[in-house]
Amino acid sequence: MLCRRISPVQQLQLLAPLLLLLLPLPALGQQVCLEAAQRNALLSFYSATGGPAWIRREKWNTSETCTWTHRNFDTSAPLTSYGTVDLPSHCCWDGVKCCVSEVDVPLFASCTQYQCNCTIGLVTGLAVGRNGLTGRLEEALSPAVLQDLGCELRLLFLGGNALSGPLPEALTGLPDLRLLTVASNRLDGTLPASLSRLSLLEELDLSSNRLTGSVPRELCGGNTRFSPLRDLMLSNNNLTGELNLLECDSLINLDMQNNNLYGNLPDFSSYRQLHILRLGNNSFSGPISPPPFDLRMLVVLDLSDNYLTGTIPNLVGNGSHLTLVRLYGNLLTGSVPADIFSLGSLGNVMLQNNKLAGTLPENIGSRAGQLAAPQ
Ligand SMILES: *[C@@H]1O[C@H](CO)[C@@H](O)[C@H](O)[C@H]1NC(C)=O
Ligand SMILES: *[C@@H]1O[C@H](CO)[C@@H](O)[C@H](O)[C@H]1NC(C)=O
Ligand SMILES: *[C@@H]1O[C@H](CO)[C@@H](O)[C@H](O)[C@H]1NC(C)=O
Ligand SMILES: *[C@@H]1O[C@H](CO)[C@@H](O)[C@H](O)[C@H]1NC(C)=O
Ligand SMILES: *[C@@H]1O[C@H](CO)[C@@H](O)[C@H](O)[C@H]1NC(C)=O
Repeated sequence: MLCRRISPVQQLQLLAPLLLLLLPLPALGQQVCLEAAQRNALLSFYSATGGPAWIRREKWNTSETCTWTHRNFDTSAPLTSYGTVDLPSHCCWDGVKCCVSEVDVPLFASCTQYQCNCTIGLVTGLAVGRNGLTGRLEEALSPAVLQDLGCELRLLFLGGNALSGPLPEALTGLPDLRLLTVASNRLDGTLPASLSRLSLLEELDLSSNRLTGSVPRELCGGNTRFSPLRDLMLSNNNLTGELNLLECDSLINLDMQNNNLYGNLPDFSSYRQLHILRLGNNSFSGPISPPPFDLRMLVVLDLSDNYLTGTIPNLVGNGSHLTLVRLYGNLLTGSVPADIFSLGSLGNVMLQNNKLAGTLPENIGSRAGQLAAPQ
């Protein structure tokens, strides 16, 4: 990648030949990011989202000097690992994060925020959640803005605002994006299939919007490469169609509850890291098969309020960590498996509103109070 930061003097020298060289504009990921262009792109984003009415907008559109002091998690570490870095002034605007270190330093707090192993001074993140942003996201993050801002942009946290319109397709061309959160806004439209291009994406949270259409099968890139996607949260939308995600093997948290997804449950058997699976309040049908319960890490299993049939499979396995099981509001038959209550950590089982028969297992013991009675 050809991402460099260029000082204003160099810019003057470079600008003329660059303008000639850069026509036609190169694809995202190949552009040179200029300090002044990044500042202008931020201001353009600010204007398009009602900046003057933001809740926090400290230093926006000022030109004060900006110096970054590394913080170190390990207070016993030698003082030499502290240091200061001079940055463009927009790097000190509230919510703007910039690269502060060319190398990854595990103990620096900023490195956990994706601000290391990059080009010092380039914008790496925009964290302006719950801040009163309004307007159409497509206009705020236009292709032109993303072209100038996107070189090493890794984190976009825009949750809890009032942004509307579809998710901009141009976002999916950001070469370095790791975290994308636009939860609790007013987004509508469909999920672009091109999300699969975000090969470094670790977290996608678009829950609580008005998204429609289906979840692209290739969201994790299909079976062409390893996907680092850990958190996929699309709950509380109006998504429909079948859920069939290919090669999402890094998933830790999959939350699709409160949508209109249907068909068989997806095949989770390869999701070895899965801790949280929430698919409640959809229209999934068929048996709970293949049972996702070989998944040792699973802590939360919520398949409530669907049309699942068949019996409750063995939830226990060996060394299960399940603490919350919600299967209520389905069409499950048979009896409650005895071993469900032998789970050491199991705290809450809700099975009501099914077609279960028989008596409760004898070993229910003191957990009876936590069991919502089967009907
Ligand atoms: C930034 O400040 C300049 C100078 O005060 C002003 O002309 C411009 O409109 C401001 N831009 C934004 C986006 O507020
Ligand atoms: C640093 O970035 C390079 C290229 O972007 C990447 O190949 C490498 O794995 C990164 N190193 C760390 C420690 O993240
Ligand atoms: C969800 O989408 C369906 C069409 O797929 C539509 O009929 C329904 O009104 C939508 N529900 C909401 C809450 O928007
Ligand atoms: C179930 O999901 C729909 C949207 O699909 C939502 O309108 C409804 O409130 C949800 N029900 C519950 C109990 O959360
Ligand atoms: C659990 O492990 C024990 C010993 O390793 C084995 O005998 C038993 O069959 C296993 N049970 C299940 C349900 O996998």
